[in-house]
Amino acid sequence: MNLVAESLALVGRVTWLWLAAVYRAVAPVGLQSRKDVTGWLALVTGAGSGVGRLLALRFAHLGCRVVLWDVNQEGNQATADLIKEAVPGAQVWTYTVDLARRDNIYTAAKQVKSELGDVNILVNNAGIITGCSLLDNDDHLNIKTMEVNALSHLWAVKCFLPGMLRRNRGHVVTVASTAGLFGVPGMVDYSVSKFSAVGLSECLRMELIKRGKTGVKTTVVCPGYIDTGMFRGFKYRFPLLMQELKPTYVADKIIEAVQTDQQMLCLPRMVYMLLMIKGIVPVSVCDALAEFTGVLNTMDDFVGRKND
Ligand SMILES: NC(=O)c1ccc[n+]([C@@H]2O[C@H](COP(=O)([O-])OP(=O)(O)OC[C@H]3O[C@@H](n4cnc5c(N)ncnc54)[C@H](O)[C@@H]3O)[C@@H](O)[C@H]2O)c1
Repeated sequence: MNLVAESLALVGRVTWLWLAAVYRAVAPVGLQSRKDVTGWLALVTGAGSGVGRLLALRFAHLGCRVVLWDVNQEGNQATADLIKEAVPGAQVWTYTVDLARRDNIYTAAKQVKSELGDVNILVNNAGIITGCSLLDNDDHLNIKTMEVNALSHLWAVKCFLPGMLRRNRGHVVTVASTAGLFGVPGMVDYSVSKFSAVGLSECLRMELIKRGKTGVKTTVVCPGYIDTGMFRGFKYRFPLLMQELKPTYVADKIIEAVQTDQQMLCLPRMVYMLLMIKGIVPVSVCDALAEFTGVLNTMDDFVGRKND
């Protein structure tokens, strides 16, 4: 095809994709086609509490067989019990896995594959935060944050993607954060790890397109503050601008995103607007806006899970 014909085809394709994206953004989810994941094997990391637990429960409700990975054996078992009670006949398996250890991930992945078969939906959800400024943070905590929030995603994808590619069917969900789109003081290592998670999802999407494996989908999730306890003490200066999110709402939106093959999910919606502003205004203006909106002080009273 010559360049003119290629460009015309691109204009047509881009117009169609724009219209489809606008439809997806405004049409009630009930009107949109959703993929059927009944019988799919869904693996959720960090399933022992918070958003991970709720996601696992929702996947079970959708008829998925569910694999729970967490370093916290008790929390993981509590999620399994909850699922069995809420969804009679649900198939659920727990594995105690420390995502900071690559050997743990590889061993557990091998076990899952030999005991249960290929994973169809991988949700890289587990995360930790130290909540210190860069100079106050210990190196080993920086490293652990990167291992759990970023590197574990790479290892898990490497373990489970080949099975998805073989069938040209699957979904990789990356739970990142708005801190993976905007730098926030008081959580430098966390933010670095989440930028990395966002980057991984984008690169993976590109690799899948390049391989022609369009049946394997990706979703990157960038939520603001969620009321799970992980970010206890975090505060917005203008809560009307950026509302605190309920974990159930976040889990529902992630499930919708998986069912409708949405590549990027930002919550609340205001984050899309902030991202656009960041893309078009000078950095100095962004910094002034961040100062005014209180971004510099969101972590001043951070406690997190220290007292849990
Ligand atoms: N809570 C928020 O405000 C918020 C905002 C944006 C993004 N997120 C992201 O959402 C995800 C879920 O957060 P949450 O609020 O449900 O947190 P949470 O603390 O309730 O759950 C995190 C889970 O990860 C597990 N985990 C921690 N370290 C692990 C390790 N080394 N190996 C295996 N499992 C480990 C924990 O045991 C826990 O069950 C995280 O990736 C987090 O960064 C959270």
